[in-house]
Amino acid sequence: MAQERGHWSSRFGFILAAAGSAVGLGNIWKFPYITGENGGGWFVLIYLGCIAIVGLPIMMAEVLIGRSSQLSPVGAFRKFSHGGSPWMGIGWLGVLAAFVILSYYSIVAGWAMHYTWLSVSSGFAEMETDAIGALFGSVYENPWINIGWHAAFMAITIAIVAKGVHGGIELASRVLMPVLFIILLVLLIYAATSDGFAQAFKFIFMPDTSKLTGASVLEALGHSFFTLSLGMGAMITYGSYLHKKDDLVSTSITIAILDTGVALVACLVLFPIIFSVGMDPAAGPGLVFVSIPIAFSQMAGGAILAPLFFLLLTFAALTSAISLLEVAVAYFVDEIKIPRVIATVMTGVVIFIFGIPSALSGGTALFGSGFSDMTQSIFGEGDGKNWFDLFDYLASNWMLPLGGLGIAVFVAWRMGDKAREEGFKTSNHLGKMYWGWVFLLRYIVPIGVLAVFLHAIGII
Ligand code: TRP
Repeated sequence: MAQERGHWSSRFGFILAAAGSAVGLGNIWKFPYITGENGGGWFVLIYLGCIAIVGLPIMMAEVLIGRSSQLSPVGAFRKFSHGGSPWMGIGWLGVLAAFVILSYYSIVAGWAMHYTWLSVSSGFAEMETDAIGALFGSVYENPWINIGWHAAFMAITIAIVAKGVHGGIELASRVLMPVLFIILLVLLIYAATSDGFAQAFKFIFMPDTSKLTGASVLEALGHSFFTLSLGMGAMITYGSYLHKKDDLVSTSITIAILDTGVALVACLVLFPIIFSVGMDPAAGPGLVFVSIPIAFSQMAGGAILAPLFFLLLTFAALTSAISLLEVAVAYFVDEIKIPRVIATVMTGVVIFIFGIPSALSGGTALFGSGFSDMTQSIFGEGDGKNWFDLFDYLASNWMLPLGGLGIAVFVAWRMGDKAREEGFKTSNHLGKMYWGWVFLLRYIVPIGVLAVFLHAIGII
């Protein structure tokens, strides 16, 4: 018997779920540290530009494909390209990307859970600064901590997705997103009263060219895909649970504004704290897991704020992980006709197994001499990518931009004028932006994405 396809209960439900997908580790963990590395100011401005002229048009294209077809990506491309064609490859690439991204995303989410637990159970307050710094290294190297939390995080994600679009994904987003916004607000108020706030504000919003390079521009562009959950059909899938009459333009703009707002607020929360205790904003991926516990251990109220912060990180990761798993699950449910619960458990377990090499990337204990060395040597000595880095690199630098390019070209050049125009101009006055949107999709997006590729292979 054919299963009834799920739907969001309202446009608001969709906005929360899609914002839940977009707001994730990319906003709270990654954006602050790449902003720090690229010197703030200009980088933030360029990132905002990328969101507006590349990210937003692609998001609208994805939601449009999903909403008009009422199908998950592979089926949607089949429908609009009239039968099995190479365009369906974009859908399959997306399913593959879901496996790749979630497998390592879950490891970082596991660290967030572990740190939530640590900050509640032992507290960082009694620890020496050096000990907190060393802690992250020992967590990263410990196979059992990584695998254990990875399993726990995947189990929660599976449990939510198995409950379906309305009773699982939407419900979780309706609960977690408001909590997330409240925690963020509490942290922002705290940060705004700290000594480093003015300095942080300047760092984030005052253009300073000294650290800006060509690579920064491309990093900003690449990150705009990741942070808005674009390029692998997540927004197509979520869009397919919208009712056909729901407006697409204002909805996409709202999601992009929420996502960008959270990323900027995360910086406004983190940098004052970092400046107040005199630390370096360019500390890299460890920024959140090292600097924050150190900073909180030295501050009044840190014992409460530290668990709040890591809980925030965990919740943000969870609503994003749900969307990643849903892309793969929707494929098996829609195309292969496997019942949702079975499809979810099966996919989730495979992704868990896929993630084990990433969980072991930091340490060598489990496989004796050097599992990570082995993966490194496959990619040549100098490259030094372990499994974890490799997956992140493959997904962020190749799969997402490639998928995004395909989606833009498909909607701008291949989808019929009529379907595209009707889809865009659903109801309101924003329909006037139609030609601007098509122009961006036709020319600006492909040029931008090609620049990312040429950079990735070292030509520019
Ligand atoms: N956008 C999320 C973040 O910023 C990650 C994410 C969720 C994602 N779903 C995605 C990235 C789909 C790319 C594609 O952390």
